[in-house]
Amino acid sequence: MTAKIIDGREIAGKLHRKTAEEVKQLKLRYKTTPSITTIKIGEDQTSALYLRLRDNACKKAGIVSNHLEFPQDVSENEILRSISELNEDKRVHGILIQFPMSGHISSDKLMNALDPKKDVEGFTPYNMGRTLIGNEHIVPCTPLSVLTILEYENMDLEGKDVVVVNHSNVVGKPLSALFLNRNATVSVCHVFTKDAKQYTSRADILVTATGIPRIITSDYVKKNAFVIDVGIVNTKDGICGDVDFDSVKEKAGKITPVPGGVGPVTVACSLRNMIKTFRNCVEEKTK
Ligand SMILES: NC(=O)c1ccc[n+]([C@@H]2O[C@H](COP(=O)([O-])OP(=O)(O)OC[C@H]3O[C@@H](n4cnc5c(N)ncnc54)[C@H](OP(=O)(O)O)[C@@H]3O)[C@@H](O)[C@H]2O)c1
Repeated sequence: MTAKIIDGREIAGKLHRKTAEEVKQLKLRYKTTPSITTIKIGEDQTSALYLRLRDNACKKAGIVSNHLEFPQDVSENEILRSISELNEDKRVHGILIQFPMSGHISSDKLMNALDPKKDVEGFTPYNMGRTLIGNEHIVPCTPLSVLTILEYENMDLEGKDVVVVNHSNVVGKPLSALFLNRNATVSVCHVFTKDAKQYTSRADILVTATGIPRIITSDYVKKNAFVIDVGIVNTKDGICGDVDFDSVKEKAGKITPVPGGVGPVTVACSLRNMIKTFRNCVEEKTK
């Protein structure tokens, strides 16, 4: 039987409507318009597309989205100065730093400098720590979108065998914490994993984010598994994901497509986080 294909755009649409309604209420209550600022370093095609989609979504929801653009060779100190100014600026309710950035800038230093209460992406050590210890507040948007998709499909995670193919700070590490917080049994695969297939082929839920086109073929997948493809790759045949969609959909129970799966939900989750940082600011929470 062919897998159910998850419509990420439909899920994102529901989230956007919820966000727009909440923004309306918050504006009335606090007489302030939520405003976020993105620090953008250099030019990157994938980031630019993501930014454009996020800006459009902000506009529709009634959130002001500003950019601070810097050339690729900007100094670390200049970025740190901007972060410090944005942290102090009461008109700014959320800050995002667009990855990937130049090698001469330490993302650790930037994350340490960012005020956790304005940290829309949930990457500061404080917010990452909260995610890790199960006291989740602002959770990184891509892991949050994976969880949101599973929740929309009423997936009970307790006791499930979950495999995450990715161990980056952006996706795999926070996502495995989210699964552990919900009592799933989690395996994390990466380039040093001896035989990834041995893990993935036993997974009830398989999340993959390698960025290698169609690396996950049907022999990597357990029958009826829920397969979530985070990977986005621009190939000469167009955008595709990690999953060899045509073969895997004949074996999986549920599957997210690329495009139209995790991507739109991630944008919507980013706006959900903006609501949190806005509330942190206007309700004057310390963090
Ligand atoms: N849909 C969305 O919203 C969204 C959001 C963010 C990212 N993405 C996409 O997700 C992908 C990953 O993003 P990222 O920022 O996490 O990239 P990344 O830092 O390059 O992470 C890739 C991960 O995949 C692992 N990996 C690579 N080749 C592998 C292989 N052959 N077998 C097993 N593991 C392998 C890497 O392991 P090592 O660390 O050991 O090298 C690493 O953990 C990209 O395609 C990106 O465009 C999508």
